[in-house]
Amino acid sequence: MSGPAGPAPNPGGVRVLRFAPAKLNLTLAVVGRREDGFHDLHSVMVPLALSDAVAVTVAHAGTHGPAVVRGPVAVGGPPAPDTLRVSGLPLAATPDNLVLRAIAATRDAVRATWPGAPADPPPLAARLTKRIPVAAGLGGGSSDAAATVAAALEAWAAALPEEGLRDLAASLGSDVPFFLAGGAALVTGRGEFVERLPDLQGEAPAVLIVTPNLPVSTAAVFAAYARGARPTSAAVLVASERLVSEMRAGLPARALFARAEELAAGNDLLPAALEVAPSLATFRAALGLLLGRPVGQSGSGPTAWVLYPTLAAAHKAARFVHLGVVEGTLPPIGGGEPFVAVSTILTPGLHAMPADAHNGGRTRSKGR
Ligand code: C5P
Repeated sequence: MSGPAGPAPNPGGVRVLRFAPAKLNLTLAVVGRREDGFHDLHSVMVPLALSDAVAVTVAHAGTHGPAVVRGPVAVGGPPAPDTLRVSGLPLAATPDNLVLRAIAATRDAVRATWPGAPADPPPLAARLTKRIPVAAGLGGGSSDAAATVAAALEAWAAALPEEGLRDLAASLGSDVPFFLAGGAALVTGRGEFVERLPDLQGEAPAVLIVTPNLPVSTAAVFAAYARGARPTSAAVLVASERLVSEMRAGLPARALFARAEELAAGNDLLPAALEVAPSLATFRAALGLLLGRPVGQSGSGPTAWVLYPTLAAAHKAARFVHLGVVEGTLPPIGGGEPFVAVSTILTPGLHAMPADAHNGGRTRSKGR
């Protein structure tokens, strides 16, 4: 808690809520390996309506009880640690959860300029509603981290200079700077350079998301890429640069469909993902046959995405996917049925919402 001369953080009990959207990589070119072991990228990333939600409350004594939905944890040590409750998709609330790491890192970052020093910014009680599948290439953990940084700063009525915010974001994960920028962007470096692009013009494109129940480690995929599982041509970089110049000039959303094939092929990490998870190859081929459309991959996978001109068309496709799961035309891979969701690319008129709160929500397989 701050001292008498300190700022006035939101009083205990006042909740700061932030939505944490998923992302799609419309393109993902790997342009080189750096000395620090990370890879330099050239990627057009867009946020999706599908989102988690993070809520934080300044946890004055007695405002955060011991009950937790899953895996009660506390980090930061005595006297009053941060706490986290998770609901929604299964995810342990362990100390390495990015929400808790983001609170701790934000506290460290603001400590030096905190007017309440020597007291620290007070503990926070956080709640995470998890809707974005984990280790899926959709950036859910990074988005949770970005949302938590913003929520913690607001809860503490604290601010960071732009550079400090950028360093904090990059320290939490390569995709975090993108989520803090909030909108379509060209992402370069290992993810730390984010150039906002004009959002797509016109009605937001619908996206079918199909995530096999097969978590894929980003580090393992980049390692496979480094070992040589990669395309031999620079076609993806060419496609990525073209998309950037078109978006800079104001690309109508519907024009994405004309480029669907090029975008679906526009991921240099695809061969590496297939090396890490070989069963993905048959799954993706079956999905393409079932839907008759180009199937992209987001990030390091395993999420497959397919663009549709309308939500209705995407929902119809989702029903085909459920049927394919039930009838076995989509091969079962991983630990169970895939996560299937219909969402939209977020454009200025649309706001991120938890998946079950709008018509871009998750759909469930029937008959299971
Ligand atoms: O930063 P993040 O935690 O998402 O990265 C996970 C791992 O993926 C890194 O430790 C690194 O091995 C690899 N990676 C990479 N190049 C990037 C992003 C991630 O090699 N641009």
